[in-house]
Amino acid sequence: MRKEIILKVEKFLWENLVKGINYKGNTQRSIEYRFEHSWRVANIGRKIAQAEGFDEEKMVIACLLHDLGYAVDFKDHDDHQCHGRYGAKIARPFLLELGYSRDDVEEICYGIAHSC
Ligand SMILES: [Fe+2]
Repeated sequence: MRKEIILKVEKFLWENLVKGINYKGNTQRSIEYRFEHSWRVANIGRKIAQAEGFDEEKMVIACLLHDLGYAVDFKDHDDHQCHGRYGAKIARPFLLELGYSRDDVEEICYGIAHSC
């Protein structure tokens, strides 16, 4: 797993979560909680990847970004329920910029989109 890539993903996650600080229900603490929660999920995902022989880096990235969609200002409850798909949409161009192949990006985005 490449540390420099994970650091870029972590920065991307934080910057996007902070964008949502003024959306209803969000506070500095709730943003921090979401960030910490994402790391907890990523650490569990890493252990699962190791145990199951999955690609650790892609698993950690998918887990880190699984709640990225909470950076969106949702219109209603149904919209809120789609946060996984919003997250995948936000993550896709970033992951391509990181140099992942389209197949890898789709695999990571599938995980993000179906995490809710
Ligand atoms: Fe979550």
